[in-house]
Amino acid sequence: MAFANNGGLCVLVLSALMVACTAGNFYQDFDLTWGDHRAKIYNGGQLLSLSLDKVSGSGFRSKKEYLFGRIDMQLKLVAGNSAGTVTAYYLSSEGPMHDEIDFEFLGNLSGDPYILHTNVFTQGKGNREQQFYLWFDPTRNFHTYSIIWNPQHIVFLVDNIPIREFRNAESIGVPFPKNQPMRIYSSLWNADDWATRGGLVKTDWSKAPFTAYYRNFNAIPSSSNSLSNSARQMATAGQLDTTSRRWLRWVQKYFMTYNYCTDLKRFPGGLPPECRQSRF
Ligand SMILES: *[C@@H]1O[C@H](CO)[C@@H](O)[C@H](O)[C@H]1NC(C)=O
Repeated sequence: MAFANNGGLCVLVLSALMVACTAGNFYQDFDLTWGDHRAKIYNGGQLLSLSLDKVSGSGFRSKKEYLFGRIDMQLKLVAGNSAGTVTAYYLSSEGPMHDEIDFEFLGNLSGDPYILHTNVFTQGKGNREQQFYLWFDPTRNFHTYSIIWNPQHIVFLVDNIPIREFRNAESIGVPFPKNQPMRIYSSLWNADDWATRGGLVKTDWSKAPFTAYYRNFNAIPSSSNSLSNSARQMATAGQLDTTSRRWLRWVQKYFMTYNYCTDLKRFPGGLPPECRQSRF
């Protein structure tokens, strides 16, 4: 009787732990890779920060590699005068033919908007930039930045709103990332030679150290059943549903500041083939 009770308790404790575990733990899931004390994990693994000063930036990397799934992270970006700083958050495989899915947050002067820069590399080749303003101040609170990656498409989301879709266009000869597992990386570094208006605005080192914060990491393979129904549906669906498509159009209409797919000057010989597919 006592034994059975203990068993029952254990099941309860275990399932409570499993719920707690799905939120992720930075000690378990990531290695701090550079920048010494500038990269830090605290609150028992619930919070991570990267900082940048005149001497160095800092970075971290996931211990695991991922092949397809949904990856969520909450970020709170460098506040105040962050011009010249870049917070990169991306997935990447290794080697010269690597695949990569990028979020890069370009800082700005106090009161001027961040730019969210995105790119997709397949087999070592990128040049697929799209840039956006955000509809909120990303330095004030944590917001969720997600990537859905399955064999049909890659979707970039901000607070669960899709901002960009890169569809599998292998049928017209565009390579799609599907064989090389990727790690998650992030770094905070100084890019004042290009990031702010092409290098016109320099990093103000009197404001250093610059700090960005991370929490609530979650990585879920597409096959997992630990996702809520709607999250799983979005992670595994080969295309966006009508509501998501409407949001995507809203973001692209009002917040997109650059799209390689409309940059005819840059591609005088014709736009990249996948651009023909990205109309909707
Ligand atoms: C910074 O703000 C200016 C003025 O609103 C804007 O033109 C620029 O694109 C913003 N972003 C960067 C990275 O310079």
